[in-house]
Amino acid sequence: MQTLVVDHPLVAHKLTTLRDVRTDSPTFRRLADELVTLLAYEATRDVRTAPVTVTTPVTEAHGVRLTRPAPLVVPILRAGLGMLDGMTRLLPTAEVGFLGMIRDEGTLKAETYATRLPEDLSGRQCYVLDPMLATGGTLAAAIRLLLDRGADDVTALCLLVAPEGLAYMDEELKDVDVPIRVVTAALDERLNEHGYIVPGLGDAGDRLYGVV
Ligand code: URA
Repeated sequence: MQTLVVDHPLVAHKLTTLRDVRTDSPTFRRLADELVTLLAYEATRDVRTAPVTVTTPVTEAHGVRLTRPAPLVVPILRAGLGMLDGMTRLLPTAEVGFLGMIRDEGTLKAETYATRLPEDLSGRQCYVLDPMLATGGTLAAAIRLLLDRGADDVTALCLLVAPEGLAYMDEELKDVDVPIRVVTAALDERLNEHGYIVPGLGDAGDRLYGVV
């Protein structure tokens, strides 16, 4: 698995405000959205394209277009929804699948409660949206589900990752021989005893949508 920490002053600036406990939900949503678009730019470096020729007002020009089947973007509910617009802004032709997963706060294990994905993902590039890669249980389970349906290239976009989560994902997905990438704004220090990322930004879902 490959991890890319996007090193850019705008990313660092927006992330700092996201972390700040005084940032209210509307500002948090806007900044998360902007941050995802910046991450998406890096995350799509390997998006598949094919050569095309277009006619300019002057002459012919050689360029590229995204290939079909269109990439699939998969936000993990609930917090991943806060990343969807920021991603599809750069990839408007992407299709969107949904995965509802919840972490049992006692066992920290992921449970899947909703799946809305194409049955056959052969030949599809998939982009999974999950803001907090903490223990890695949810993201590893989500990626395994996509691979089981035939996905042959998976990139996860996470606002923050913890070293424990990356290590878990490496171990869980070590048998996988297709490209798996994690693109993030920061690799934080550690997890605390409740499975929260430290220093982190708290509960991403609650900060996006309130405590419901
Ligand atoms: N999920 C969150 O929303 N925050 C964390 O720190 C860990 C998991």
